[in-house]
Amino acid sequence: MCGIVGYIGEEQAAPILLEGLSRLEYRGYDSAGVAVYGGGAMQVRKAKGRLSVLDGLLDHGKALEGVVGVGHTRWATHGAPSDVNSHPQVSRSGKIAVVHNGIIENYVQLRSFLQEQGVSFVSETDTEVVAQLVDYFYEDGRVDILEAVGRCLRRIEGAYALGILCADASDRLIAVRKDSPLILGLGEGCTFLASDVTAILRHTREVIYLDDGETAVLTREGARCYDHLMRPVEKAVSHVDWETDAAEKGGYEHFMFKEIMEQPEALRRAILPRLRGGEVVLEGFGLSDAYLRSLKKLYIVACGSSYHVGMVGKYNLERLLRIPVEAALASEFRYMDPILDEGTLVVVISQSGETLDTMAALREAKRLGARVLSIVNVVGSSIARESDEVLYTWAGPEIAVATTKAYSTQLAVLDLLGLYIARRRGSLDAGTCREVLEEMARLPEKLEQVLSRRDDIQYLASQHFSHSSVFYMGRNVDYALGLEGSLKLKEISYIHSEAYAAGELKHGTISLIEPGTLVVALGTYPPLTGKTVSNIQEVRSRGGQVLAVTTESHREDFSHAAGAVITVPDTHPMLLPSLTVAPLQLFAYYVALMRGCDVDKPRNLAKSVTVE
Ligand code: G6P
Repeated sequence: MCGIVGYIGEEQAAPILLEGLSRLEYRGYDSAGVAVYGGGAMQVRKAKGRLSVLDGLLDHGKALEGVVGVGHTRWATHGAPSDVNSHPQVSRSGKIAVVHNGIIENYVQLRSFLQEQGVSFVSETDTEVVAQLVDYFYEDGRVDILEAVGRCLRRIEGAYALGILCADASDRLIAVRKDSPLILGLGEGCTFLASDVTAILRHTREVIYLDDGETAVLTREGARCYDHLMRPVEKAVSHVDWETDAAEKGGYEHFMFKEIMEQPEALRRAILPRLRGGEVVLEGFGLSDAYLRSLKKLYIVACGSSYHVGMVGKYNLERLLRIPVEAALASEFRYMDPILDEGTLVVVISQSGETLDTMAALREAKRLGARVLSIVNVVGSSIARESDEVLYTWAGPEIAVATTKAYSTQLAVLDLLGLYIARRRGSLDAGTCREVLEEMARLPEKLEQVLSRRDDIQYLASQHFSHSSVFYMGRNVDYALGLEGSLKLKEISYIHSEAYAAGELKHGTISLIEPGTLVVALGTYPPLTGKTVSNIQEVRSRGGQVLAVTTESHREDFSHAAGAVITVPDTHPMLLPSLTVAPLQLFAYYVALMRGCDVDKPRNLAKSVTVE
């Protein structure tokens, strides 16, 4: 996830680009850069670190001449944060500069192809492939730049928003959008491109929203747009009346809500590039098949919601791998003298990659001779750097303290890891793997369906926001999900909440059920839905109210037993948590909102906990 801005007009471009980039600062970034054509040359300046570093280098942009350019803030996905991996990426001739948001899925193949043609690469990024490929087709001006971009687009796969500047055609900028947002801004004698409307609001409120597959050529007079076959299209101009604060949140009231709604997109980024031919492909994965076959045990270690992902993983991976899988809280693990050796793989999960307890657990695991694989969102974070192997979640920056899209992508990546190891160990046949992966590829769309029914959940929240205590119960993966649902509710609404395994009801918690007590009953896991229905009846017969979550195919069974039922689409049982978590997040969000809580910044909590 990165931020893009582009400008063509009559004023000096660099100050405008830097100011636009500063508006994207809330997204978090690790490096920034600009390319401006001026003084007869393409000038590219990039710097690792916060935007202020680049801003200082360029004297707020005054140091760079030129009236056309593109700029970028990077949130690293491919390649660590560094000057060379920052954007813009420039082609070998120095003529093509590209800024990119998204992931080019087939960049490895394209890079090999270009290397065979004698092109050498300077960065580790997938973006450089785009710059080099456009240059390759451009053939030193023998082909029009728009045609060269079109040829490049026919070869690249993935999700991308691109801003392209060509030194030979500095009277225009090219913008491309596919599965990654990009807008155009129309000013007086100037035109903009931007990944987020916030970047250009100071200059114009007249925007064109590019659709997927569309390309635009920007000049200072305006923009011409083309469809995926490069046929001209007429685009409507929209007027944006959001204030900057609302615009940062994509028009939503809170980052948490924005991030909940971004989950289908985040899942696409985390899952799709890792599926190929019915198998999981982990590019550059360093744990050998022989090592994976020799594994005797897995530990999943994390804190907070990341630990809850580990709990789901315990059920799913144990079933897939048929070896013991334990989920442990990092704060406990580091002091419990765990039994580890080279036959144990420790999987640590962390959104931030900086959680101190998780970091300490990682070091302890290494000290005891285990290998450590981390699932992390922040590229180049401490946990990522110290692990033997890293799988990134590619969720993009998460700003709300209560995690949502990071949880979902961690879950998806952990499932992919489980499937990958199971195939290496022979505990999963190719046919079943293919079936699960086909279902996995459908998850983003199914999640969109769940999110589109958010009004139903808002209504349920309005019925229940005044409880002083809420219980969650479920079995198997639904128990693990209950822990997450309960944590979400208590952390942002301050309602006391507990989650327990539904079978434990009769061993204590049932004494807390009195008339009106709310129990959220999770019953999605197909083999155990009947058992959960019985537990619901136990609650109801003591006067408790039940809000059940199940799959569409089990709606009937639950609607007889529970007061209200939320359903999610059916999918492979191991993938159900990826859908079921969404109504739980939304319920917590709406309840907190109705109680007047500060949803994005709940009291006493921090996004990244770097103290013990
Ligand atoms: C904090 C956050 C939680 C998060 C936990 C672990 O408590 O508020 O949302 O789950 O830390 O963070 P990590 O960055 O390691 O996933």
